Order: sequence, then structure tokens, then C-alpha cells
Amino acid sequence: MADNSKLACARKALEFVTRGMSIGLGTGSTAAVFIDLLGKRNKEDDLDLTCVATSRASEEQAKKLGLKLVEFSNIDSLDAAFDGADQVDPKFNLIKGLGGALVREKIVDYRARRFYVLVGENKLVKALSGIVPVEVIPMSEEHVRRELVGMGASSAPTRVDGGRKFVSDNGNFILHADFKKIPDPSALEKGIMPLPGVVDNGIFTSRNVAVIVGKQDGTSKLLE
Ligand code: A5P
Repeated sequence: MADNSKLACARKALEFVTRGMSIGLGTGSTAAVFIDLLGKRNKEDDLDLTCVATSRASEEQAKKLGLKLVEFSNIDSLDAAFDGADQVDPKFNLIKGLGGALVREKIVDYRARRFYVLVGENKLVKALSGIVPVEVIPMSEEHVRRELVGMGASSAPTRVDGGRKFVSDNGNFILHADFKKIPDPSALEKGIMPLPGVVDNGIFTSRNVAVIVGKQDGTSKLLE
């Protein structure tokens, strides 16, 4: 997605932010554009926002912009979360986590009253398929990999960045399970969870979703 379309959906998303809201801040390049606009708007209008970050990167960014951050445990509820996604199907099931922050994202995004997903048109798919990130406790890496293949993944390599195993903000590894077809996203999301050592997976099927689609021409639309 070109920067123009990220900016378009981030701008649209800002329309849903009102004074005094508690907001979940997503992770990734699209969420970063939104956080930037949010920080600027907050400075101009003093929106009295309370924010929860879904990654260290988003936390750092929000801090620099002067947004007020709190621990999620210290607040009862979130009015809205704004986050990107890797794929969105027509029922608003998602694959998330190619940015490596799926665990904290799911903790926050599922619990927001409204979860705004910010994507370009290229992320809209007829059916979810391909890489599903699965965060695992390091000692379970090989076992979970075999079990994911047993569940139908063609492979489940450990995510590597810069020649090293990627370590999440939670100190864990991420397996990239390749499911060529995902006929029932909710069943797969739930099916992966009982594998001992799995922390969470990147299939998101919560029903609090509204999708903001940014286009290359700078326009955007809300799907709900
Ligand atoms: C982060 O872990 C991810 O879930 C991102 O939200 C997702 O990968 C979308 O990222 P971009 O906005 O950078 O495409």
C-alpha cells in the first residue's frame, strides 16, 4: 500500500476519535501513520485521550508525540482500537501479526468496543490463506511446528529477521505456519490455541470490527 492510501485510511480513522476516549494503538506501518496523525491532532485540540500501546514500537512513537499512555490492566475498557491487518475477508475475519505484535494486538483489539482495521484495498481477500503467525514459548518451538504441520500447514518455519530468530516483545518466537487454504478461520484460530506452548495466533475473528479501506487515490471508505 502506498503512503497515500495509508494516510487516507488514517485520516478517515481520526474522524472516529472524540474527546476523552480510551484508545488502543495498533502496530505496523499503517498504525504508525494513524498514531502520528493522532498525536498531532491531540496536540492541537487537547483531546484528553488515554492510550494503550500494542508494542514497544508504538509505545515509543506515542510517547514522543506526547500521547498519554497507560498499562492496559489499569483501565476497565477501551472505546476503540485502531490497527492494521495483513488480510481481511468479506466477513471481516483477519490475518494479523506479520509485524510480530499479534499477542498484544489481540489482547487489546478484541477488548475494544470498536476495532477499526486500517488497510489498503490490496489487503481485501475473498478468503484468508497463507502465512498465519503463531507466537510460541521458545522451548515449544519444534513441537508446535510439527503439530501445525499435522494440522495442515505445509510448513511452519520460525520467523527470522536479519539472520537471527525474531524475538517478540514478549520474549517469544513466532512460527509462520503456511495454511494454503483456511475454509473456517474461527475453527483454525481456536484449533491452534490448545497446542501447549502456543501463546496466540494471527487469525482474528472478533465481531467488533469496522474496516477502513484507504485507496491509492487518497480516498477512503468505511465497511461495517
Ligand atoms: C503487526 O503485528 C501486524 O498485525 C500489523 O498490524 C499488520 O502486519 C499490518 O501491518 P502494515 O500496516 O505495516 O501492513
